Amino acid sequence: MDSLERPVLVTGGAGYIGSHTVVELLRDGRRAVIVDDFSNSHPGVLAAVAELGGAEPVLEEGDIRDRGFIDDVIARHRPQSAIHFAAKKAVGESVEIPATYLDINIGGTATLVAALHDAGVRNLVFSSSCSVHGETDPTPLNEDSPVAPANPYAFTKLTCEQMLDRLVGADHSWATVSLRYFNPIGAHPSGLLGEAGRGRPRNIMPWLVDVAAGRKSELEVFGDDWPTPDGTCVRDYLHVVDVARVHVLALRHMEAGSARVLNIGTGVGTSVLELIRAMEQASGRDIPHRISGRRDGDVSSLVADASRVQELWGWRPEFTVADMCADTWRHELTRRD
Ligand SMILES: NC(=O)c1ccc[n+]([C@@H]2O[C@H](COP(=O)([O-])OP(=O)(O)OC[C@H]3O[C@@H](n4cnc5c(N)ncnc54)[C@H](O)[C@@H]3O)[C@@H](O)[C@H]2O)c1
Repeated sequence: MDSLERPVLVTGGAGYIGSHTVVELLRDGRRAVIVDDFSNSHPGVLAAVAELGGAEPVLEEGDIRDRGFIDDVIARHRPQSAIHFAAKKAVGESVEIPATYLDINIGGTATLVAALHDAGVRNLVFSSSCSVHGETDPTPLNEDSPVAPANPYAFTKLTCEQMLDRLVGADHSWATVSLRYFNPIGAHPSGLLGEAGRGRPRNIMPWLVDVAAGRKSELEVFGDDWPTPDGTCVRDYLHVVDVARVHVLALRHMEAGSARVLNIGTGVGTSVLELIRAMEQASGRDIPHRISGRRDGDVSSLVADASRVQELWGWRPEFTVADMCADTWRHELTRRD
């Protein structure tokens, strides 16, 4: 097998961003091996991934912390590179159960990196997060803006970025890219794929959808006394398909000896109240909300200056917040899970 015929190992590939990324990889002519323990996803999404991607991904069910399992998967599939999504991702929960976040997010990444290394695989794309910046300078935030993780989740992401930096610094045969996504929302425009995690929704968009669909009575807005134009938190929302596509570019452009970090956003800030209105328009439903106190670990405003990824790789977000809401609602109306 030459290197491009070898598959991409995608941890967390059944999850929200992972599943959309596998679609884009398959459409780009790559093969994908998904490693997922389905702790926050459902095997049913793989049928939609295959339909949209035009090819079947391989599935290996298991935990990234299980070194024997990961070694076996790598030995059998001989991936050329890996994209590492598998992690726990809820800021509030990370304050409640920090040790679990350390174990899965940092321990899992260390296990994966060691297994890849021992098998001679040296290319890794890592899912980082804008939360590494914390409450720092006024936004927009570029890659050189200060980092100050405000919660255990953000700490795990920054620690993994730093692990990869040290790894590449010590061994120039490695190439890594850490993509600091701002706030991915939306769903595949087909409506076949979207965010379908387990448990109670902790991110804003699934919660908005639950209220619009009548499964929940109201959205809780965490604070309206933040230093932002309408007092609610401002985030840089970007469409999950735009996020997925940047991974295809990352695999194409990664260079040995480089531990690149890139901020991935649109540069447009949207407040919680503005997002509620956009979702009301997309769904044609009222979305009642209630203001409650600020949530531990939150910060007021996170908006990207993503000019570096645009200059380096020509990545441009294609979708607007209205598209993100419309596609999310289409997924809600067509979901099969
Ligand atoms: N969604 C966001 O808003 C956002 C923002 C910034 C960064 N990120 C990061 O992007 C990545 C993907 O996020 P997502 O929104 O797709 O999350 P997700 O929960 O939908 O996907 C994660 C997937 O990993 C799997 N997983 C979790 N722990 C595992 C383990 N120990 N072994 C094997 N599989 C495991 C889950 O079952 C799930 O399918 C995460 O690393 C997250 O921290 C997400």
